[in-house]
Amino acid sequence: MNVSDSERVSTLLESEGFEITSDEGSADIVLLNTCSVREKAEHKLYTRVGQIKPGGKGERLVGVMGCVAQLEGETLFEKDRGIDFVVGTRAVGRVHEAIRLAGSGKGNVIDLKGREDDYDWTVADKSRHSPFVAFVPIIEGCNKFCTYCIVPFSRGREKSLPASEIVRQVLDLRRTGVKEVHLIGQNVNSYRPGTDTGLEDFRGATPFSRLLRAVAATGIERIKFTTSFPRDFHPDIVDAIEENDNLCNWVHLPVQSGSDRLLREMRRGHTIDSYKKKIDRIRSSSREISLTTDIIVGFPGETEEDFRGTKELVRHCRYDAAYIFKYSPRPGTPAAALEDDVTDQTKTRRFLELEEIQKENVRRSLSNSVGKVYDVLAEKASERDDDHLSGHTTCHKVVNFAGNGAVPGDICRVKITDAKSNTLFGERV
Ligand code: 5AD
Ligand code: SF4
Repeated sequence: MNVSDSERVSTLLESEGFEITSDEGSADIVLLNTCSVREKAEHKLYTRVGQIKPGGKGERLVGVMGCVAQLEGETLFEKDRGIDFVVGTRAVGRVHEAIRLAGSGKGNVIDLKGREDDYDWTVADKSRHSPFVAFVPIIEGCNKFCTYCIVPFSRGREKSLPASEIVRQVLDLRRTGVKEVHLIGQNVNSYRPGTDTGLEDFRGATPFSRLLRAVAATGIERIKFTTSFPRDFHPDIVDAIEENDNLCNWVHLPVQSGSDRLLREMRRGHTIDSYKKKIDRIRSSSREISLTTDIIVGFPGETEEDFRGTKELVRHCRYDAAYIFKYSPRPGTPAAALEDDVTDQTKTRRFLELEEIQKENVRRSLSNSVGKVYDVLAEKASERDDDHLSGHTTCHKVVNFAGNGAVPGDICRVKITDAKSNTLFGERV
């Protein structure tokens, strides 16, 4: 979501006459986009500002956007650290105004106000991280309030974008040569637009599965979506994937813990049993759908017994990838009021133990792919070898392959010949 925000801010600033540079040394203005999901992001931020502006105020302009900007607000100006302007998560459509005010010597400029009704969610081709892959936000914010999580505070309430607007964007992207869109949101399957949706012609058990079918009907080559919230993950999403070749074989379904007690404490709204039922449908699909997850170790009160549950679940689910995090209290969240009683040493040990189990899952998952043929979107020349290309399968696995004349942007049939650590190797057939 942050990469996507940065892309839109680049688009906006270019249209307002600013020039984007990749050479930090020559920049008159540096804008830092920030995340506050974990760790002491503010500390990192101050270190970064110090590097950019060693002489303090008066040099170039430094602005902060993203979740730290939204949560910290005015406090970012304290102690005269060199920050000139602060733009909240929903104020990014007015970043050019903040820059102009700061540039005219207005002192500390801050905008934490809401999004404009006509906020432009599109990204210019030039500002996209890839010519062939585009992020399309479909829902912003979060209403779930998992007890450890800061996102509902930094990104506000859920708001779905109109389906007609999403479909129009995907059609435009397709025309300009984009091969793959990622429908993004904190919880894509909570997608719930107002009445004027543009989904009337599409079947589906939920607005999200109707949206998936509508986006599939645009004919864009590949559609991925992330992240899904387990409680609201309806099996019809898998039906939609099975019906449409361009809906990719990948579901990211963060489980967070393998202990029902902790899941309740985290207020996740799912149990181990209900989660397993959802993944049974995914795993029994006629399509080879890959399953990835997020897990937190060391949530307050996590016992060895709780942690054993998590290990068992990770073994059971055979995740194709898992992002494991050590719990860190986020001030203002309900869990921050609980004692952070799992020591850092124990968190690290549990992290490493889980990583070992997950490595075995990845090894199994990748070696199962050897000998098979997949459609791979060639995204760029491989870093190691000029004749090789690098890209992703529809199940979101990275493949390096001998291109045999293919160029970035092609979707290639690739036979997998080898698997190492997190990467598959193959050749175009
Ligand atoms: N501590 C550790 N991990 C967290 N996450 C969210 N909040 C915290 C926290 N306070 C993780 C969750 C989420 C992912 C994006 O970040 O696993 O799914
Ligand atoms: Fe955070 Fe939970 Fe919302 Fe995900 S669903 S963003 S973990 S509050």
